[in-house]
Amino acid sequence: MPSNYLDKAPEVAARFARLQQRPITLEVKGLTKEFITPRGTVTALDQVSFSVHKREFMCVIGPSGCGKSTLVRILAGLESATAGDVMVNGKKVSGPGPDRGMVFQGYTLFPWLSVKENVMFGPKVSGVPNTLAEREARQWIDLVGLSRFENSYPHQLSGGMKQRVAIARALANQPQVLFMDEPFGALDAQTRCDMQNYLLEIWRNVDITIVFITHDLDEAVFLSDRILVLDANPGRFREMIEVPVPRPRHNEQLFEPTFAATRMHLEHLIHPPGQESKSAPVIRLTKPDPDVI
Ligand SMILES: Nc1ncnc2c1ncn2[C@@H]1O[C@H](COP(=O)(O)OP(=O)(O)O)[C@@H](O)[C@H]1O
Ligand SMILES: [Mg+2]
Repeated sequence: MPSNYLDKAPEVAARFARLQQRPITLEVKGLTKEFITPRGTVTALDQVSFSVHKREFMCVIGPSGCGKSTLVRILAGLESATAGDVMVNGKKVSGPGPDRGMVFQGYTLFPWLSVKENVMFGPKVSGVPNTLAEREARQWIDLVGLSRFENSYPHQLSGGMKQRVAIARALANQPQVLFMDEPFGALDAQTRCDMQNYLLEIWRNVDITIVFITHDLDEAVFLSDRILVLDANPGRFREMIEVPVPRPRHNEQLFEPTFAATRMHLEHLIHPPGQESKSAPVIRLTKPDPDVI
């Protein structure tokens, strides 16, 4: 056990050394985004730079409004930057492309298509023949554990199942990078935990680099190799953390000192001690009681 819980055990340090050797899949240089609003210019992102290696799992966290969704929308090519560059495998991003997949928090499946048809949709649009698209769709659906539901429609599925279909649909286009913007944010705690385990299993089995936005600190530590922490107003690079928790990850690790120390470190970055909000004014409906606090 390392003396400082944030220090990496030798096998974890060796894994990071290997990660550094891998090619860079995503490179972000000096990314700035300003929104012109009736109330003036809002700088959502200010000179953000970082890179993500092949097969890396990176989480991005930061306070609400720090530009996480804006960042991921620019990376996916859904929005343009005011300044800076985004490169995927050395190629500049100038719009959406099949090299990048996206999963959002909201359920975005086509409600009139079955699970299988939803997953086949992207490949069919890009010209893959029907029988091949169908065969491949079945493999992706199998990977997310929904084979029995391939002919079901989205309204017949639970929230967690819908998100598994959304992941299968994104992967069916065979992207290099998968961007996920708080994909489990609307799920209950137990389903969320199951989905995190599913996602790690998928990531182990598929040649994919993942950039995952979350505001849940446990989720960030549990999933990622590295965590990019952003500051708010304007959204700026704060810190890049190499998560010292060994892989494969399992739920018992949440109670281990290395996990807790990483989580605490993030907590202090995002909510610095001494900056807790003052207690709200209280409307007293009853007399204070020392036993009820
Ligand atoms: N289309 C837009 N027009 C104006 N301001 C925007 C727009 N989108 C986001 N913003 C502003 O940019 C900042 C970052 O927003 P966002 O990326 O949604 O943050 P996060 O996802 O971290 O909560 C916020 O101040 C938000 O109000
Ligand atoms: Mg957001």
